[in-house]
Amino acid sequence: MKDKNSIGNVLRVAVGVCLVCAVIVSTAAVTLRPLQEENRAAFRQLNVLRAAGLYEPGMNVSAAFERIERRIIDFDTGSYVDPPGGFDPVRAVRDPAQSRALSGDPAGIGRRTHYGEVFLAYDDGGQLERIILPVHAYGLWSTMYAFLALEPDLRTVAGISFFEHGETPGLGGEIDNPRWQENWVGRRVRDQAGNAVFRVDRGRTPEGVADADYRVDGLTGATITSKGVENMVRFWLGEEGYGTYLTRLESRIRAGEVM
Ligand SMILES: Cc1cc2nc3c(=O)[nH]c(=O)nc-3n(C[C@H](O)[C@H](O)[C@H](O)COP(=O)(O)O)c2cc1C
Repeated sequence: MKDKNSIGNVLRVAVGVCLVCAVIVSTAAVTLRPLQEENRAAFRQLNVLRAAGLYEPGMNVSAAFERIERRIIDFDTGSYVDPPGGFDPVRAVRDPAQSRALSGDPAGIGRRTHYGEVFLAYDDGGQLERIILPVHAYGLWSTMYAFLALEPDLRTVAGISFFEHGETPGLGGEIDNPRWQENWVGRRVRDQAGNAVFRVDRGRTPEGVADADYRVDGLTGATITSKGVENMVRFWLGEEGYGTYLTRLESRIRAGEVM
């Protein structure tokens, strides 16, 4: 009778178990990938709606998202583009043909894509209600990703929603706190001339300062994260970010070309 505990037998069983497990894990990874991507897309949609102040718990997110139009813009010209293969910001930022290294880089992001996404929310009457801009910057430990929603005046914040970061819970992680995010509503991020002027204070914004509209309270014990958030807003609403697009859109709105 063959020895069940022989080295050959032990190795055969071990290799067999490894093969079976490898097949199970890779099948699960492949079959679950579309579901993961679907969930990721749904989570992004939820956060776009949240930033725009259009999210209510329990709502059908994809149905609510139907009133939102996704457009691709060229950051340098500020015009809409329609790239034949679509636009994937995650791939584009890694591709030297679709992005460039930033020299000053106040937001600590290294590269910026040539194109970007914007989301336009319309009300039931077809009037432009919100403009939602994806923005990101480095905080203390991580790149923080958010959607920043503006009113149709393109200066006033309608809301902000951070959806990915690795800042410390309770400190920099308080960027997720809805009470802090509420402070943003009604604040201005661009002045009359279209310059990106915005400040996240160290602690509370002092009472009675003339530019209080352009400032939000900082996060206690998280000055570095707060500074990252300030840099994020200034960079993305500035010339290298959405500045040119917003100036163009502003004149189109004034001319009555955009409802
Ligand atoms: C474990 C640990 C985690 C921290 N996490 C953060 C953080 O997420 N964001 C941040 O700005 N500061 C964080 N800090 C504090 C910073 O090191 C730094 O002291 C702080 O940003 C200065 O802010 P303050 O002047 O408001 O205290 C952390 C500190 C420690 C010890």
